[in-house]
Amino acid sequence: MIKHFGIQKRLVGSYFIVIFITVFILEVLLITAVRYYYVHNVERILANQAEISASFFHHYFADENIVEQSERLLKGFAENTTAQVQIIDSRGMLLQDSSEGSYKLLTRLQFPDLEKAQNGEAGVWKGRDPLTNELVMAVSYPLQAKQTTVGVVRFITSLTETMATIRYITTMLISVGLIVIVIVAGLGIVLSRMITSSIRDLKLAADRMAEGDFTVRAKKRYADELGTLADTLNTMAVKITRNEQLKNDFISSVSHEIRTPLTSIKGWVVTLKPENTKCQQLLTEGLDIIESETDRLTQLVDELLDLSKLDNGRIELTRAPVHLSVLLSHISAQLAPRAARLGILLEVKADQNQEMILADENRLKQVLINLLDNSLKFTEAEGHIQIYTHSSLEQVVITIEDSGVGIDPQDIDHVLNKFYKGSHKRAGSGLGLSICAEIIKLHQGELLIDSVPGHGTKVHIYLPRSNSKNFNDFITF
Ligand SMILES: Nc1ncnc2c1ncn2[C@@H]1O[C@H](COP(=O)(O)OP(=O)(O)O)[C@@H](O)[C@H]1O
Ligand SMILES: [Mg+2]
Repeated sequence: MIKHFGIQKRLVGSYFIVIFITVFILEVLLITAVRYYYVHNVERILANQAEISASFFHHYFADENIVEQSERLLKGFAENTTAQVQIIDSRGMLLQDSSEGSYKLLTRLQFPDLEKAQNGEAGVWKGRDPLTNELVMAVSYPLQAKQTTVGVVRFITSLTETMATIRYITTMLISVGLIVIVIVAGLGIVLSRMITSSIRDLKLAADRMAEGDFTVRAKKRYADELGTLADTLNTMAVKITRNEQLKNDFISSVSHEIRTPLTSIKGWVVTLKPENTKCQQLLTEGLDIIESETDRLTQLVDELLDLSKLDNGRIELTRAPVHLSVLLSHISAQLAPRAARLGILLEVKADQNQEMILADENRLKQVLINLLDNSLKFTEAEGHIQIYTHSSLEQVVITIEDSGVGIDPQDIDHVLNKFYKGSHKRAGSGLGLSICAEIIKLHQGELLIDSVPGHGTKVHIYLPRSNSKNFNDFITF
């Protein structure tokens, strides 16, 4: 399922969650550490004093009666401390207390720390004092004489102030955390708005393009990935516009090419209607023209089909070893009658021992016939046409040379374009050479034209000598 959240919300959201979790963890750690540090400090001081007191008792009062000496002991113990000090006998009866407003003497006390000390171990307790309901900490130490616990010394201090300090620091820490979160979230919103505004611009432009308006251009805000994307989108729009233009030109050229023979056919058909066909000669002439115009249309349609296949990359070459000199003599034999009729000398000079090349024989034949057709069309009677080959290690060159009218220098760069046909009256549709060039390109070769107006034209077909490994595979196969 696709969730509909804007990119900005997602960016800010994830940003915020990360920051929030980080700040939260840090705060918890810091606050715990502060609490531990302060409370532990109080406990350490109390335990220190209690321990000194207990050891003092052990050294100097171990043989004395604790009840009788309790007053003197309290004075000694309470001398260097601000804490409340209690001396308790081994059954838990309060013997002395440094604080007056506290329990009455000889009350029986019961606290967890006290119980532990009665059993001979140091005890610590943190809790609310039952009398004052104040938060206190108490540390009890056993007073020992000859391995027996004869009493307990208890140091008690209020934690109110410590807690207030801790609360103060905690509040500070939380406030700083909140401020950090607010600043970072604000920055996140600003940053993500910078990104999303670029994306929004791109989307607007892309939407317009999707509706067919290729005059819009995406705005490039920054030279980042989105900026590159804007460039790409704009280049695409330019290319599509250009292609659209090419397509329109193509359609108008095709229409024009079809219209000319159709007009001529229509004209003759009207002329040849029964009421006009008294003259046998006129009838033959008309039908001949209709026949040749129909042929022209058929050829045009064939060429258009080839072009569309070449453009879509739908023509697949079926390459096989081709014996070049055999192919050339076939073709020249095929065209010899036409050349003879036109009074043109057609010669093939191909090396009989030449190696074979790897090519699509039918397509290669199509190219050669097209080129020879041009030469025959643009060469006057008594002219000559030669076909010869020349091979090197890397490539085979087939040259078709004629002594025809040649091509004007200003035309030579364009004759490979579709529908370009110079200014000859014998010109056809102007598709032949562009189809030839495409087919040679499919063979990874190149078609080059070299012409001197009034003297003749040379068309060179460069075909790469096939990668010998592949080729040998073919032969041995
Ligand atoms: N051998 C040639 N001698 C002189 N001009 C040529 C020759 N081959 C091609 N051309 C020129 O190039 C144009 C394009 O050739 P092509 O694409 O085969 O079209 P088409 O043969 O239908 O006219 C021709 O119309 C002609 O003007
Ligand atoms: Mg041609």
